[in-house]
Amino acid sequence: MAGYDLTQIKTRYGIIGRDSKLDTVLDTALQVAKTNLAVFIQGESGVGKEIIPRIIHDSSLRKTKRYIAINCGSIPEGTIDSELFGHVKGSFTGADRDHDGYFGAANGGTLFLDEVGELPLPTQVRLLRVLETGEYIPVGSNEPRKTDVRIVAATNVKIEKAIREGKFREDLYYRLCTISVKMPPLRERGQDVVLLFKKFAMDSAALYNIPEPLRLTPEAEKVVMSYKWPGNIRQLKNVVEQMNILCKDRLVTPEMLAGYGVTPSAESTDLALRPASIAAKESEPIEQTLKMMQLMIQSLKMDVELLKQKSSEQHTGSHFVHQLPAPSVQIEQPHTISSADIDEVEDIAMDNEEDLNLEKNEKRLIEIALRRSRNRRNLAAKDLGISERTLYRKIRDYGIEE
Ligand SMILES: Nc1ncnc2c1ncn2[C@@H]1O[C@H](COP(=O)(O)OP(=O)(O)OP(=O)(O)O)[C@@H](O)[C@H]1O
Ligand SMILES: [Mg+2]
Repeated sequence: MAGYDLTQIKTRYGIIGRDSKLDTVLDTALQVAKTNLAVFIQGESGVGKEIIPRIIHDSSLRKTKRYIAINCGSIPEGTIDSELFGHVKGSFTGADRDHDGYFGAANGGTLFLDEVGELPLPTQVRLLRVLETGEYIPVGSNEPRKTDVRIVAATNVKIEKAIREGKFREDLYYRLCTISVKMPPLRERGQDVVLLFKKFAMDSAALYNIPEPLRLTPEAEKVVMSYKWPGNIRQLKNVVEQMNILCKDRLVTPEMLAGYGVTPSAESTDLALRPASIAAKESEPIEQTLKMMQLMIQSLKMDVELLKQKSSEQHTGSHFVHQLPAPSVQIEQPHTISSADIDEVEDIAMDNEEDLNLEKNEKRLIEIALRRSRNRRNLAAKDLGISERTLYRKIRDYGIEE
């Protein structure tokens, strides 16, 4: 393809993979970069959508102007219009001066609207207006303002379903997806899963000063290639990081992978889901919620085992124990699990048989997720498989103190 070299792009952005589907996505991103067309990126959770808008911006004529990425699911409904479109002085209590908003700030540049499916309906109407006319009206003003912003939006939810349910405007959808990009799930990228395993194994070994990175036996390669990876690359990264810490044997076999839920069989793939990759939504049936709790308990049990092992290794003086941070489901940002967590985890694991009160358990799982993420709500929401806004609401409804 003239004008750019995919290998260079991959190196520059740390993208691993040779699969043709990934190359097609990158080609599309680079081709549309020179235009002002809106781009809509769809793909399951953890497939790597977030790097695409950055590539588009950097390869466009807008690259000298601002690139602003916004997670639409994390801005409270009450302030989202003002944050996006700005407000004028006096428009509400506390508005003591004019505020530009992201559409003003990103003028000439690119705005990445992540989790766009989470936008409230009134905000969708305002967004549609900008896309149609290039104008927006700040909160409390009557004066339209011009802006020249390139929109890239992304979602991991089935937007067609949201449209059918009246949660997302169809006209906005068509405006947003002038160019539609589908990030393929990891299970459809052939050998890439093995390349990614090797890359994460090397990164993780370097991070924890472990001299020998994990390696896959030929049989284990087959297993990682046939497993479904419902949490995609994020899940793979987490599994490799956990194995890197827990497995003394550096040659990974199918049996070892099975211990982390990575198996080729269809039945076991469900149980293999880690909390970070669970896409259960609060509106789904009770069985799904119960399944989610079961999976979290399974994961929490693993954390307890890890902590026990860590504490016994500290006594025996294992070679890499001093570099180990505490285990984390959201491996990208390790955290420390306190002894209170362990009590709670064991408590929950033991209660599993008897205590199936949904509300009570939901509250406890939210409290654990918050503690594990050190009150970083975005990480806690990811662990719980719900949107940040849903998490805000549940924290408020349950009166959870952080
Ligand atoms: N091809 C790749 N090579 C290396 N790392 C990758 C690749 N694709 C994704 N990753 C890594 O996987 C993780 C998940 O990617 P990302 O955050 O972009 O997912 P996402 O599609 O936005 O998921 P979600 O919808 O849940 O937000 C990140 O740590 C990212 O750096
Ligand atoms: Mg994302």
